Amino acid sequence: MGGARAADSCLPPTPIPRYARDDMLRLARTIEETRAAIRGPRAAGRTVGLVPTMGFLHEGHLSLIRVAREHGADFVAVSIFVNPLQFAPHEDFQRYPRDEEHDRKLLEREGVDLLFLPSIDVMYPPNATTRVTVTGVAEALEGERRPGHFTGVATVVSKLFNIVQPELAVFGRKDAQQCAVIERMVRDLDIPIRLVFGETIREHDGLAMSSRNSYLMREQRALAPVLHRALRAGEDAIKHGIDRVESIEKLMHKMVAETAGVEVDYLVVVDPLTFRTPADFHRDLLVAGAVHIGKTRLIDNIRVAKNAIPHAHV
Ligand code: PAJ
Repeated sequence: MGGARAADSCLPPTPIPRYARDDMLRLARTIEETRAAIRGPRAAGRTVGLVPTMGFLHEGHLSLIRVAREHGADFVAVSIFVNPLQFAPHEDFQRYPRDEEHDRKLLEREGVDLLFLPSIDVMYPPNATTRVTVTGVAEALEGERRPGHFTGVATVVSKLFNIVQPELAVFGRKDAQQCAVIERMVRDLDIPIRLVFGETIREHDGLAMSSRNSYLMREQRALAPVLHRALRAGEDAIKHGIDRVESIEKLMHKMVAETAGVEVDYLVVVDPLTFRTPADFHRDLLVAGAVHIGKTRLIDNIRVAKNAIPHAHV
């Protein structure tokens, strides 16, 4: 009836229902809707990739969607959930930037298949009391400064993994320690998901893209690239054969100290497996930093491959 062809009547052609079009971004707000949306594609043999986010999307997030595709995902799900569990009471959960409409447009343009947008009640019903805690790597650096943060991350990520059950999931190296914590969790809990890590996407002046950059006032934004410059200086020093952690850290501190308005939280050289001081320089290294600019906390890091470190092989 409703399928009458235009040629047979004066009526315009029946529009294809939104839900039946394959190129539509489907929106799911509940666990049931999410599972229902994935059932068909999975039965059809499609490879599901998941990109978890907290929204206020930027090119860094969008690059992970492309990485998912490059690694074989032909059904990409993105989640947007500002996870209260990973914010300490004094942190920025309430004022964390949110823009659902704009995010949806970006994901539509990117050809994402499914957006999971749960409420807090969907993710944390009042009677839920289970937490996932990774020890070791989660206790260093960010874990030390933000107690409970990685438990919040590991708990929400394992829930997202169980809800979507993707073949692969993509995370950004901008949050290098988060990548290491999730990798540990996946191994320790035998979670059958392939992890893929995407490179850090930066602004033209080197500042790593971040939803939190939107907090910065114009003058603060102008100061922010000093974090990346300091890390680059640390990277250069390592590549030029300086192999004393203290010298490199001092050099990085000095660069930031010269910039009024930027407070160092940490600027360190660590072993990317443990996030602690490296036993030696015969291994991959990570220079990592966190600074405060006003109330805004920014983090960044650069990986230095072993083969770029002089004498690392001997
Ligand atoms: P969010 O900060 O929104 O970041 C979502 C994903 O995007 C993370 O994997 C993060 O590392 C990546 N990302 C952020 N900025 C990036 C950049 N400039 N270049 C490349 N990738 C970038 O990280 C979280 O959310 C949350 O902790 C989450 C994993 C979603 C759990 O709540």
